Amino acid sequence: MADLDLPPGADLFGDVPDRDAPLAGTADSHGYVPDALIATDIDAYLARHEGKDLLRFITCGSVDDGKSTLIGRLLYDSRAIFADQLAALEADSRRMGTQGQKIDFALLVDGLTAEREQGITIDVAYRFFATDARKFIVADTPGHEQYTRNMVTGASTADCAVILVDARKGVLTQTRRHSYLAHLLGVRHIILAVNKMDLVGHDRTVFDRIRLAYRAFASSIGITRFCAIPLSGLTGENVAARAQTMPWYDGPTLIEQLERVPVGDDLAERPFRMPVQLVSRPHLDFRGFAGLVASGTVRPGDPVRILPSGRTTSVARIVTADGDLAEAAAGRSLTLTLADEIDCARGDVIAAAAAPPEVADKVEAILVWMADEALLPGRSYLFKLATQSASASIQGIDHRVDVNTAEAGPARTLDLNEIGVVRIALDRPLVFEPYERSRELGGFILIDRLTNATVAAGLIRRALRRASNVHTHAHAVTRESRAAAKQQQPAVLWFTGLSGAGKSTIANLVEAQLAALGRHTYLLDGDNVRQGLNADLGFSDGDRVENIRRIGEVAKLMADAGLIVLTAFISPFRAEREMVRAMLPAGEFVEVFVDTPLAEAEARDVKGLYAKARSGGLANFTGIDSPYEEPLAPEIRIDTTAMTAEAAAALIVDRLTGQR
Ligand code: ADX
Repeated sequence: MADLDLPPGADLFGDVPDRDAPLAGTADSHGYVPDALIATDIDAYLARHEGKDLLRFITCGSVDDGKSTLIGRLLYDSRAIFADQLAALEADSRRMGTQGQKIDFALLVDGLTAEREQGITIDVAYRFFATDARKFIVADTPGHEQYTRNMVTGASTADCAVILVDARKGVLTQTRRHSYLAHLLGVRHIILAVNKMDLVGHDRTVFDRIRLAYRAFASSIGITRFCAIPLSGLTGENVAARAQTMPWYDGPTLIEQLERVPVGDDLAERPFRMPVQLVSRPHLDFRGFAGLVASGTVRPGDPVRILPSGRTTSVARIVTADGDLAEAAAGRSLTLTLADEIDCARGDVIAAAAAPPEVADKVEAILVWMADEALLPGRSYLFKLATQSASASIQGIDHRVDVNTAEAGPARTLDLNEIGVVRIALDRPLVFEPYERSRELGGFILIDRLTNATVAAGLIRRALRRASNVHTHAHAVTRESRAAAKQQQPAVLWFTGLSGAGKSTIANLVEAQLAALGRHTYLLDGDNVRQGLNADLGFSDGDRVENIRRIGEVAKLMADAGLIVLTAFISPFRAEREMVRAMLPAGEFVEVFVDTPLAEAEARDVKGLYAKARSGGLANFTGIDSPYEEPLAPEIRIDTTAMTAEAAAALIVDRLTGQR
């Protein structure tokens, strides 16, 4: 709160000041009348707040714009709930657990829902305050460019954004960035707070110039309406109290505008959707599907469709802790029972039968990259949308969007805080709606499987390929029959290790021995595959990911054909090795770590490449200036400093043929 300058005695986030503070019920120097109940009966006061609607908004701007002062002013002038009371209320709602109280405080710490479950720490402060008309949660995020991810988190649940502009400076790059992001994240109401009017002599022409400049930019990015207010957080003019100094302004004060912005949206009027969180089966006679109604209204007897399967039935009962309901609307947590015994699991969506959401396994989305490590097209990430999880990979980046100008440009990757339009392929059908129609069913996150960190937030734009409900083509010759004809169990022996570790040498010996035993095999080798199938790939991280992805797919097809496949690639990243493991039936992927220390591989330098890399003649060389991530739990580890290639091969063949 660096530039906070308010009446003496005011500790905004602590106690109500005793001195200098007006008595409850009497107007203070800003003309705002605090509620007498705060002082006399806090419980009654809070109970009255229960019934009010809630506006979630985000403030965008930097310390320089006077953001802290303005937020402080809002909290001070509304003088509603202070930090200590808030803490007490939170403790109460935890102890008593009544729904009404719970909702407020869940909202307080909300962010992207899935992200919260992820436990990511994002620098967004949520503050709660209230006026007589309404309750508010304000998400306060740092304004600098590197904090795009924070703003995205705050804006993803906001109904309204207060975009702060310093009257002396006007519309800046960051104003444009904040506006673009707020609009992108579906914030429907924009307030342009032209702050520090006291420093420009309350001059109308200054305000008008800024309003017009902003209008030109706003319409260029699709913001059709906004409300501009000339104010001063420092003096409080046009925040809660109307400014006498700007008689030319006849619009609302900031608090008035915040009180009149429509909250939520027409969620309850939209078609019914409930992502299933949990199948509840307390005893054999009851099978209920629990979740939060994302949109629409539901009544017993309503025809519903279960997605992605597409099966239809109807609602039997709406069960809640308070008894059965005749009707329930968006925002309510409940358990539905269905008229028919029908397959429905966590991640499925129960929807209005006549107006179901979309189902697709390939989508176009806007991605906000939130990780320090750049996006790697082709890499498999964990995808979470509402209660659904899937494996996802970015198939391509259509373009990057400059957050400052909203202009599109070419991109091969996305770095921290960059935004791009991408194509995403999923390993299963996804039930969704475009983000602009539903934040609940259109917003998702991507998680790095190994570090468990949230790497991106995404907004679905449209389906690229509709998922058909028929996935299994009934082949006359099955995987099993192909393996049986070869009288063997298919497997993928995945050799990994540094260049020159001995992967190819050992894999060759293993294949020769297996062939001698009458096994049907195929060896995929780095140097060979890179001359054909992967001739277009080099040694950047992205190319290595794609190299391994393709080899993984080929190995999978060959295993499907009944072969024992051997692969010899550096395959430096754990993520891709684990991806291939996940593509195959359990037990079929055998990771063989050819463990040759860097010093040893370099000393052998069979191909002379280490010398070349050391002298600067070869960039991105594994072990030198490109990473190698050792397997954590390989099925087989070969220490080439302790055994010969022949002994290693014999050991692997024994393991494979079950002889140990
Ligand atoms: S991987 O990293 O994508 O798995 P791959 O196994 O296909 O690599 O290819 C590695 C082989 O390519 C090495 O054994 C070496 O002969 C050759 N090579 C050429 N440049 C490089 C480099 N920069 N890093 C590693 N290997 C390289």
